[in-house]
Amino acid sequence: MTDFPKRITLSRHSGQTMDFEIRRCAESDLKDILDLQLKVYDDLCDPGLYALVGEEDIHESLLEDYCFGTYHDDRLIAFTMMIANRISHRNYGTYVGYPEERQKHCVSLEISLVDRDYRGFGLQRLFVSLREEIAKAHGAKEALVTIAPGNDYSLHNLLNSGYQIMDTRPLYEGAVRHILSKQL
Ligand SMILES: CC(C)(COP(=O)(O)OP(=O)(O)OC[C@H]1O[C@@H](n2cnc3c(N)ncnc32)[C@H](O)[C@@H]1OP(=O)(O)O)[C@@H](O)C(=O)NCCC(=O)NCCS
Repeated sequence: MTDFPKRITLSRHSGQTMDFEIRRCAESDLKDILDLQLKVYDDLCDPGLYALVGEEDIHESLLEDYCFGTYHDDRLIAFTMMIANRISHRNYGTYVGYPEERQKHCVSLEISLVDRDYRGFGLQRLFVSLREEIAKAHGAKEALVTIAPGNDYSLHNLLNSGYQIMDTRPLYEGAVRHILSKQL
């Protein structure tokens, strides 16, 4: 399995390349993660496309789940989080009525954020494959993710990564979401 921190060089379609480091995040990174989330959220043309994840949930996930940051020149420029295949109201298996036995094999891909200045390097798809690798190593058999209809960049990346829409319905305080799934 991948060791962290991991150094990578990525390219844009334009041919521009940049060096990054992917690190597993710790409790001490909470403020930087919240700042990045707010920056990306404030920058969205339609705030309905992304539901802010609360500080308590991110804090819990830093302790119990899998959180990774991408750093450029030692600055957090992208972040991703996956809820482990554990029994919790945050396991997306609860959204689709999976019994607990199935939830134990189900991870939830909860956040992917890329600072606007660093988009186009394929970081979201990289985050998807990174989390799938970790999920499989921890016995997960299925990954679930939710996406706002209209979040075309994110939907495109998840469909291209092999995810399929299994349902579309109101979820977060009534906001409609696609629920996508992939067998791992
Ligand atoms: C979704 C997101 C993570 C994708 O970032 P990414 O991995 O860097 O995107 P990609 O590398 O797949 O980008 C492909 C192309 O789409 C463009 N693009 C990606 N996201 C874009 C956005 N939100 N607005 C405009 N263009 C965007 C890229 O610049 C790139 O353009 P190019 O082909 O001309 O170079 C990023 O847009 C984002 O942080 N969005 C806000 C938060 C969000 O919705 N997260 C997903 C739900 S958790």
